[in-house]
Amino acid sequence: MIPLAVPNLTGNERAYLNRCIDTTFVSSVGEYVNKIEEMAAEKSGSRYAVATSSGTTGLHLALTGCGVQSDEIVIIPTFTFIATANAVAHCDACPWLMDISKDTWTLDSEQLKTELEKKTVWENNRLIHKDSGKRVAAIMPVYTLGSIPDMEKINAIAKDYGLPVVADAAAALGAEYEGKALGEIADLTVFSFNGNKTVTSGGGGMIVGNDAELLKKLKHLSTTARVTAEYDHDMVGYNYRMTNIQAAVGCAQLERLEEFVEKKREIRAFYNREFEGMDKVSPFPDMDYGKSACWFSGIVLKRGGLEKVRNLCERLREKGIEARSFWKPVHLQKPYEKALRAENLSVASDLWNRILTLPCSTNITAKELEYVAKTVKEVLEE
Ligand SMILES: Cc1ncc(COP(=O)(O)O)c(C=O)c1O
Repeated sequence: MIPLAVPNLTGNERAYLNRCIDTTFVSSVGEYVNKIEEMAAEKSGSRYAVATSSGTTGLHLALTGCGVQSDEIVIIPTFTFIATANAVAHCDACPWLMDISKDTWTLDSEQLKTELEKKTVWENNRLIHKDSGKRVAAIMPVYTLGSIPDMEKINAIAKDYGLPVVADAAAALGAEYEGKALGEIADLTVFSFNGNKTVTSGGGGMIVGNDAELLKKLKHLSTTARVTAEYDHDMVGYNYRMTNIQAAVGCAQLERLEEFVEKKREIRAFYNREFEGMDKVSPFPDMDYGKSACWFSGIVLKRGGLEKVRNLCERLREKGIEARSFWKPVHLQKPYEKALRAENLSVASDLWNRILTLPCSTNITAKELEYVAKTVKEVLEE
């Protein structure tokens, strides 16, 4: 079976893991935790980084650090992995779901502006969502598949409304935006090092940013808000730490970030070339103002829905290829049926069930890629 996306662990992972065991530093402090924070800061062009136990806990922590509180609102795109919404819910806050741009599959900045104009009002220096009476507390754009939304516009809107911007950049490490580093284009940026990401630590996440005080507070919160070694804590903190074992794997992976992202881009370009001109499918989108990290690649069916995608996956599985559908939008998910939403979510609603993701591991061979492309074409013609 050619898998969808598996880790590529042929670098220093084993050596670094052995060192964890030899030194007995297997838990939540150690040289690799320090090193992975330094590497992530450097690779994202940020001054500071805080390692976390997952992308989800990183997002939760980042929102908390930006002041999101119980019963408040965080704006997110509806087309995302459910963890984005869950991080908001873990703050006991409520997601306000917006549509995506069809060109990048990321937060629609035009709609964001219109919705804020129409549906909010300032009351006692607080930005209030009129219908619910709740305070709007933050905007969390998602860098879908490693593509970045129009952050210039989103940041300008955020500034007008006094909202912090926390980027869910789960799979976007390595992406480029108008020559700027990822760390420069949001107040806080959160990565995931889950097993299916371009670089993995087995499980883990990272928050990066340039505000020394804020990042210090996040580190404090992530480590049970401990003040002294005498079990003295000054806040309700979290145990959201990355272990040295996870960080050891993550460091070895980050050493190869550029190579892996390059490979991901080659895979994207290969599929785009192979399926170009086919009347049944269109390619995954790309930004014209930056370079996507191309986390996943595949095709979009011009017609059909989830049933068709399921059938294609089944036929491909029979031929030794793992393919999958992609994110079901948050507004269609049971836990978020009652979430606040923009008037129109038609782009996400129309898109999600026509996506087919194809094998894109960084160690996939040219022969395997050719086999996938040939087989997908055959199966599409059936
Ligand atoms: C867009 C997005 N946000 C958040 C996450 C959550 O990251 P983790 O699985 O590390 O908690 C993911 C992971 O798949 C993701 O794709």
